[in-house]
Amino acid sequence: MDQETFSAVDAFIGETIVEEDEALRRAVEAAEAAGLPAIQVSPPQGKLLALLVRLVGARRILEFGTLGGYSAILMARALPEDGRLISLEANPEYAEVARASIEAAGVGEKVEIRVGPALETLPTLEEEGAGPFDLVFIDADKVNTPNYFSWALDRTRPGGLIVADNVVRDGSLADASDPDEATQAQRRLHESLAGEPRVDATTIQTVGVKGYDGFLVALVEPA
Ligand code: SAH
Ligand code: DHB
Ligand code: MG
Repeated sequence: MDQETFSAVDAFIGETIVEEDEALRRAVEAAEAAGLPAIQVSPPQGKLLALLVRLVGARRILEFGTLGGYSAILMARALPEDGRLISLEANPEYAEVARASIEAAGVGEKVEIRVGPALETLPTLEEEGAGPFDLVFIDADKVNTPNYFSWALDRTRPGGLIVADNVVRDGSLADASDPDEATQAQRRLHESLAGEPRVDATTIQTVGVKGYDGFLVALVEPA
């Protein structure tokens, strides 16, 4: 099995059950034209996020890492009319591209992008009394995934979900001696969740157009 097969299967899924409409295609094109890296969730992964939003009946979503707004558009569309998504993005140029694509996709009213390194934005959100959230999608700088998870855990309602992208990292998650700090961060997160009664979690390994990686999905338990 190889990357060509993984991509062909994603293409088939895209031709059948996961439709990518004009607004999403334009968002990808706008991001590419502006020189953003093409690291957004794949269409099937994005569809999973949208389904999770609907499954938990989410009304309040927090996203770490906006990029060009692709995952934000998908999740915002799955929200009810009065639902809101806050997305945190360190790069002001990316945020501007995302803002335009989010507006063009018709979900501008639902999405608020906060520009700045997420760890610096979180105290402001705290002061504003943001949350509790029904779903948190962690997809920013990977070394901070455990820090974002920890913040999110205190602010996600029971029955809510915390999802983290890019935790498997070509399988390096299993390698205790991997020198990559981002990988070590995912290992620490998994180890810390082993003794964490507040969540019930799993990690699903994924292949597709983005190669070999995986999502961590954690359900927040009642206190
Ligand atoms: N969720 C997006 C992809 C995000 S890619 C999608 O699927 O469409 C990761 C993003 O995190 C990049 O845009 C990057 O600029 C941003 N990022 C990196 N470090 C960050 C930080 N410290 N705080 C907030 N965002 C950060
Ligand atoms: C990168 C970031 C992501 O969120 C992703 O899904 C893939 C790659 C990156 O920073 O390289
Ligand atoms: Mg990602």
